Amino acid sequence: MNVRKHLTTLAMISLFGLTACGSDLFPAETNPMTTVDPITDMGVSIQSVYGTITWWTIGIALVVGAMYAYVLVAFRDKGQTEQPKQIHGNPALEIGWTLAPVVIVILILVPTVRTIFVLGDAAPDDKVEVKVIGKRWWWEFRYVPDGDMIKEELVTANQIHIPANKSASFLITSDSVIHSFWVPRLGGKRDAVPGRTNRLWFTMLPDCATVEGGVEGQDCTSMQPKDGEPLHFMGECVEFCGESHAQMKFDVFVDTEKDFRAWVDGMQAPKEASDAQAKAGKELFGELGCGGCHAVTGNDRARGILGPNLTNFGERARIGAGIVENTPENLKAWISNPDGIKPGATMRTNISRGPKGANDGMNVPVVAGLSDDSDGDGYPNFSDDQLDKLVAYLHSLK
Ligand code: CUA
Repeated sequence: MNVRKHLTTLAMISLFGLTACGSDLFPAETNPMTTVDPITDMGVSIQSVYGTITWWTIGIALVVGAMYAYVLVAFRDKGQTEQPKQIHGNPALEIGWTLAPVVIVILILVPTVRTIFVLGDAAPDDKVEVKVIGKRWWWEFRYVPDGDMIKEELVTANQIHIPANKSASFLITSDSVIHSFWVPRLGGKRDAVPGRTNRLWFTMLPDCATVEGGVEGQDCTSMQPKDGEPLHFMGECVEFCGESHAQMKFDVFVDTEKDFRAWVDGMQAPKEASDAQAKAGKELFGELGCGGCHAVTGNDRARGILGPNLTNFGERARIGAGIVENTPENLKAWISNPDGIKPGATMRTNISRGPKGANDGMNVPVVAGLSDDSDGDGYPNFSDDQLDKLVAYLHSLK
């Protein structure tokens, strides 16, 4: 009897740990991809359905487990020789075990369907709307003009900014295969399907100081950004989409209204290379043809749309769709050999991808007098000096 009691206690503690207390056992600070610590209205709605179902599951497991244990003990082999009394058909029992699951399913169904409808509601008018396009293997983000601060469509990649004071609405699609857009702490995930637009929107929970007793189970102090101190969340692709599926991440910064406005203004302002090295880099960027695939606001030689838009690239936290930090060393390694950092990367500046013509036409050809082709493969091997200039230019974009 004692053993059973201890086992039950142990089981309960484990289940508690995995569910209700999950956010305490696995704090978001050390588990940035936690799924049990949402900080948006939609995230909390989904979490509450998840919680309801989990508690029902725990209850059912305990009842079934107890009945099973009772049967094991009460009807164990006691050495009797004749067949025990046989029972066939017990209408009360049969109706009972049919009705009980029906009732439980209804009790789960009602909050689930209600939440599905809430998630399907149109986003409020006061929102920032972003088109999300899943690429192989990175994310393009296009901010829809709002007739106010966003004057023309703003295009960026692998990193988004959203203001804490408005709802964020995402129109999610793909230009390639099926991807899936997910920022666990901001709630819900949505597939990015070619030819289809899926919607997702949420609003950051209000500042806890203004909410009586705070929001249940949330650490309120960390939920609101301050000027110059945005909240940072990580997202990633959660639908297997090929070679670099696991390297298709992105960063989300939740800004104060002031910071968001400053970021938008920065994105809309033409970028001028700041110092001599950056100016030389800009020149080289143009001559090498980087602008055939990449766009930079204000750079007439950079209007490409195949690759990520590099406006404000200098302020991005990570490169290669969230793979490595945006340091000069990593950026040089990336430009020299993207494939070495991210297998299957379609940015191909280097012949390490294969013999001339074997690729998909996206390689940068050798430009006479500008780039070295000592290995004769038809593609440039960048010198340290060239890499320094390119990095100076790219990091000046902020
Ligand atoms: Cu895109 Cu997985």
